[in-house]
Amino acid sequence: MHYDMSPLRLGILASGTGSNFAAIAQAISDKNLNAQIKTLIYNNPNAGVARKAEQWKIPAVLLNHHQFGRREDLDHAIMETMTAYQVDWVIMAGWMRCVTSVLLDAFPQRVLNIHPSLLPSFPGLHAVKQALAAGVTITGCTVHHVVPAVDSGPIVMQAAVPIMPNDTEATLHERIHVQEHIIYPRAIMLAATALSRN
Ligand code: GAR
Repeated sequence: MHYDMSPLRLGILASGTGSNFAAIAQAISDKNLNAQIKTLIYNNPNAGVARKAEQWKIPAVLLNHHQFGRREDLDHAIMETMTAYQVDWVIMAGWMRCVTSVLLDAFPQRVLNIHPSLLPSFPGLHAVKQALAAGVTITGCTVHHVVPAVDSGPIVMQAAVPIMPNDTEATLHERIHVQEHIIYPRAIMLAATALSRN
């Protein structure tokens, strides 16, 4: 891979187990993504992603949403932390909070999210369960730019995942995760390359 840009400085937002965080860290370590993870911000004190950050020696900052009155207050703290770590791309990897223009305006066109469905189908919570309940035979995952309306910004990359007859939410989500880990590092590079050419 040819690198004609300096490494992207990523700030990750995550609330969950952190498999996407680890996949991004691994892609960087394997030199498949020209980036550095400057910081992880997580909002749930028990989130497994905090341990993953420890393993990868990446500074992790807990911003517990319960300690902020309004969404804007949390986003302001996120923005300040990201700025202090000199982040230039905000990467939501299992971040389960809506974000406001406080964060989006600070990182114009530089906030990405991954969602476990083929958007615009099944936005919002429990996307994998929604796909099973709808009886579709193909679902997948989407990396998209974040805009104020939930799960509706411009799409950067998608991967399709077939639904098997005996799938449960857990088995299907596991196969979606495999695809997420493949597309997220690629989508980050693609979005950054596209923006640099604008
Ligand atoms: C991922 O499947 C991601 O698509 C989903 O949370 C999971 C986090 O997994 N995000 C959303 O549902 C956002 N609406 P991880 O903690 O193992 O990366």
